[in-house]
This record gives sequence, C-alpha cells and structure tokens, in this order.
Amino acid sequence: MNTTPHTVDVAAATPYRIHIGPNLLDDGSWLARTLRGRQALLVSDANVAPLYAGRVEAALQAAGPGLRIARHVIAAGETEKTLANFSGTIDALAALGATRDACVFALGGGVVGDLAGFAAACWMRGIDIVQLPTTLLAMVDSSVGGKTAVDIPQGKNLVGAFHVPRAVLADTATLRTLPARELRAGLAEVIKYGAIVDADFLHWLDAHRDALLGGDDAALAQAIARSCAHKAAITTRDPLEHGDRALLNFGHTFGHAIEAEQGYGDGLNHGEAVAVGMLLAARLSATLGLASRADAEALRTLLQRFELPVDVPAGLTPEALLARMRLDKKAQASGLRFILWNGPGAARIVADVEEGAVLAVLRAEG
Ligand code: NAD
Ligand code: GLY
Repeated sequence: MNTTPHTVDVAAATPYRIHIGPNLLDDGSWLARTLRGRQALLVSDANVAPLYAGRVEAALQAAGPGLRIARHVIAAGETEKTLANFSGTIDALAALGATRDACVFALGGGVVGDLAGFAAACWMRGIDIVQLPTTLLAMVDSSVGGKTAVDIPQGKNLVGAFHVPRAVLADTATLRTLPARELRAGLAEVIKYGAIVDADFLHWLDAHRDALLGGDDAALAQAIARSCAHKAAITTRDPLEHGDRALLNFGHTFGHAIEAEQGYGDGLNHGEAVAVGMLLAARLSATLGLASRADAEALRTLLQRFELPVDVPAGLTPEALLARMRLDKKAQASGLRFILWNGPGAARIVADVEEGAVLAVLRAEG
C-alpha cells in the first residue's frame, strides 16, 4: 500500500481539511499555513509532550520565526479532563497574551483535544484550534466534528461547546508509540463506522486485520481516512446532533453505562466499553426483531478478531447498568433511546425501548 498522505475535506459551515499520513508533524510549512496570528499555545499531556511537542514547536518556529510559542502540559488520562485543567489552559493563554488571532494546537488523544478545544472555544469567545491527534481514537473520532468538553463529577462531557477545528493533522507515525491496548480501543471506533453506515468497510477491516493490529502505516491511514470521511459526512449533515449525528453513538449507551458503573480509570477503557456496547446493541436489535441474531454474532467474531472485549465485566449487574442508562443524557424524557441497527451498515435511532428487552439482553449476556 502506498503512504501518500490522505486528505478529507469537511464541508462544515467553516470548512476544514483533515491530513492523514506518516511524519506530518515535521511539516512546519503545513502547520504554519494554519496560523493567522503570531501566538501559538501547544497543549499536550505528560506522556505525549516528551515524545512529540519539541518536534512540533521546532517545525512551527522554523516556518514562522516571529511566532511566540508556549507549551501547556497536563497530566495524562480521563481524570484530567476537568474544569481545573480548563482553567489552567485559559491561564496559559492569558500568560501568552493570546489575541483573537492566536491558535491553540492540541497534541494528544481525545482528552487533550476535548480540553484544549473547549479552551479555544471560550478564549475571547472563540479562537482557532488545530487538532494534532496522536491516538487512533482521536484521529478517527474526537478530533473531527467540533465537540469539545470537560467532565464534572455529575457526568462526562457535561460542560462543553461545539467548536470546529481550523484543521486536523493526523500523523500516523505517532501511533507507533501508542500502547497496543489504546490502538485496539481506536479500532473499536473504526469498526463502529462500518457497523453504522458502511458494511463493506467491515469486510475490508477483517481482510486487513493483521496490518492494522501490526501498526502498518498505510493500512491505518486508509482506515482513518475512510472513518473520517464518514464522520465528516454525518457531522456536516447534522453538526449539532439534532438527528443523524446520534448514529455515531452506536454502542455508547451500553458503553457509557459500563464505564460509569465500573468507575472511570478502572476496567475497560472507552473504546473497549464501546466494543461491548456495540455487541449488546446488535443483540438488542435482534431481540426487538430489527436485525438477525447472526448479524450480531458476526459482529462479535469481528470484535474478537481485533482482540477487543465482548463481555460485560464481571460484577456489573443488569439492574445497575439499566439505572445508569436511565441517567444517560441520551435517555430522553420519553424513555430509553438507543442506536440500534437493521444489520451491518444500517444503524437507526430507536426511541422508547422497553426496559424489559434491555434487561433480557443484559441477563442473557451474563
Ligand atoms: P487519551 O487522550 O486519554 O489517550 C489515551 C492514552 O494514550 C493517554 O495515556 C495518553 O497520554 C496516551 N497517548 C496518546 N497518544 C500517544 C502516543 N502517540 N504515544 C504514546 N502514548 C500516547 O484517550 P483517547 O482514547 O484518545 O480519548 C478519549 C477521550 O476522547 C474521552 O475523554 C472521550 O470523551 C473523548 N471523545 C471525544 C469525542 C468528540 O467528538 N469530541 C469523540 C470520542 C471520544
Ligand atoms: N463521537 C460522537 C460525536 O462526535 O458526535
């Protein structure tokens, strides 16, 4: 496979381009083209900054000698996506003397991207954010579409804003340092795109499993580009999630309940919980007569081939998970709402799902 960078254009109200390929972080001229002013704040985390921040700063400085660059590094992990770190990022922008044409560069996974994006959305009512995702999950999902947020004790992503990036640059070479478990978590989100809108993609993923799990640049770049094209199309149609954008939450109602019930930071990570959640959503679809059980079991086989979990972790009861789902922000006033499917590539939004059917699926699982 060739390694020419891929590009995906997002026809948002403010259009932007996603670049995907190896070693793009060293392309200072490309980075500099995203700049409008003379200040840049690079936000990263304690795992990613030592690996890549210096390279990004050097590339930016070489391309824009007059540029004033500051670095703001947070500790790594979901527990850092907080209002306190948002406030710290705002302080860093103030210390830089950032003006309305300043740019924030988010170098890291979804935690950094969501946090830095929210700070950029709020500073002077909105300055540029360039997303430099370094996890597969961030490359295929969180860096695209403009959702930014932090968590509060009452729940995940409850404080945030829509703020589309000025550009996204996914350097696939950064995935070489990503722990294998995080790579697989990102592959769960890649599989999600096949499940919701692109059945052929599921066959392609199955056929390229070894290359993808082995970190092959070209295979990963292709998978990222196809995933981003789907996310771009959906978020262009429905930027504020009034309709179809919710399809991206396939597997998330079950997945979020698992994450919340086990406690963030312990047990399954987000992508793994989504893998289990997608299988449960497929089984619920079968229980409700929307799809065949064979489709659900084929999805299970694919997830297992990608070494992803498919079982609810021991100790989480169906009743406790259902209680979490009632609290989930996707549960509407009218009842439980799920993203289900009519089979591979054919997801749909289903409201008022009977709690009994959900419990039956969870109990059969256990
Ligand atoms: P993450 O940002 O916590 O990154 C996972 C781990 O990998 C961290 O420890 C990080 O330091 C490390 N890491 C990142 N890149 C690395 C690299 N190249 N080499 C070595 N280590 C590296 O987690 P994530 O899975 O990227 O993102 C999860 C977050 O994304 C959640 O907060 C979720 O809510 C959010 N999210 C947002 C959207 C959206 O649309 N905005 C969509 C999906 C998920
Ligand atoms: N990850 C879901 C969304 O961007 O809408």
